[in-house]
Amino acid sequence: MPDELRDEESYLAARAEQFAARMESEGVSRKKLLQLVGGALPLLVGGNRLAAAGPAAAQTSPGPPIRKPLPPEWFVPFGTNAETRWDSLAEVGYEVPNDRFFVRNHTATPMIDPDTWRLRVFGGGLKLRPGSGDSVEFSLRDLKRLRSKKLTAFIECAGNGRSFFASQQGTPASGTQWALGAVGVAEWRGVPLSDVLDRARITKDAVDVLPQGLDSNVLSGGVDMGKVRRPLPVAKALDDVLLAYEMNGAPLPPDHGFPVRLVVPGWVGIASIKWLGQIEVSTQPLFSPWNTTSYRMFGPDYPTDSPPLTNQPVKSALELARGAVLPLGRRTTLTGRAWSGSAPIRRVEVSTDRGATWAEAKIYGGNRPGAWTRWRFKFEPSKPGPSEIWTRATDEDGRTQPPSVSFNTFGYLYSAVVRHPIDVH
Ligand code: MTE
Repeated sequence: MPDELRDEESYLAARAEQFAARMESEGVSRKKLLQLVGGALPLLVGGNRLAAAGPAAAQTSPGPPIRKPLPPEWFVPFGTNAETRWDSLAEVGYEVPNDRFFVRNHTATPMIDPDTWRLRVFGGGLKLRPGSGDSVEFSLRDLKRLRSKKLTAFIECAGNGRSFFASQQGTPASGTQWALGAVGVAEWRGVPLSDVLDRARITKDAVDVLPQGLDSNVLSGGVDMGKVRRPLPVAKALDDVLLAYEMNGAPLPPDHGFPVRLVVPGWVGIASIKWLGQIEVSTQPLFSPWNTTSYRMFGPDYPTDSPPLTNQPVKSALELARGAVLPLGRRTTLTGRAWSGSAPIRRVEVSTDRGATWAEAKIYGGNRPGAWTRWRFKFEPSKPGPSEIWTRATDEDGRTQPPSVSFNTFGYLYSAVVRHPIDVH
């Protein structure tokens, strides 16, 4: 435990108690919680105090949770979050335009002054030059002067598809009841995180980095969880992670992390910290609520020490409203997209008879790992009335969407075949 917290153990223990009680009310047993985080529990709930050591340069002002307009034809609102409607993606190209991209905010979009914004990199995993202080700071200008790179990648919430645990498997999972619209692909531009860490003189024995956002502390059930922050192993941080300052050729919009966010290709969306303010570099494994008490699998079919979530599984979706009306006896072209966090897509199959037979869809356009591929399928409905269309993707590593998946308490990684209702007449 850091020195600054050691003499406040009783205060933190009280907060840990509150935190454990809340997790219990959400179905995570106290025993399981302690197995997972052990002595780190007081440290986890004391996160806001560590966060207070972050840069004071960024300014935030209170406002609505999401700043951009959310027209009902493009979005389904969920409090501080907004899901993209898949039927609205039938009108767009490979990338999702910024104004249609889903938003997942733990609290609210902060408005940050780019002129005073600084990224502070610090921690025992850096070899700082003598006399240069305890951290390395980068302004937005500094970052823009470095070699820039483009990356086409999806951001997808770990809970995307969560509502199907209830509607298809009869086991509701707690959290935002997303259908499949908590995903979007954009072309990001920015600086490789590895370049920034090199400039900050990361050492060979660093094991974890901890990027942290500048949005407000997350209050959950009366407990202050501190700033949104999730440790990232150094191996991934130095591989393909981008510090993005552009999204689809424009400066990042406020809701998507202005002025700088992380884009962690293929991984669950929580890894891609928005409104980045600081990065700790450590020679010890790091913990936060977002890699211990959430964003891991909890449930009867999972071990208590299941690892923090990383890559997204394989999924597919139709660019069609749920319950859409299709004309009887007339040929329709169904369109959609399929993606996997680990590999490009090999195959997409469609069933119009509730899984009795499957036929291959035509894949077209880009097919990048960590992004998605588009597909189309010709279909002539021959029976009137309610029906279903099922889609099933397989990636190049041979992962296929299964008929169902094991339940987990928070409803993460729903990758089973989704049954899409239609009405034919
Ligand atoms: N970063 C910060 N600072 N605060 C947040 O609430 N939400 C995370 C991640 N980064 C979040 C964050 C989650 S859970 C997801 S899915 C993605 O941002 C969503 O990114 P988007 O809103 O740009 O679609």
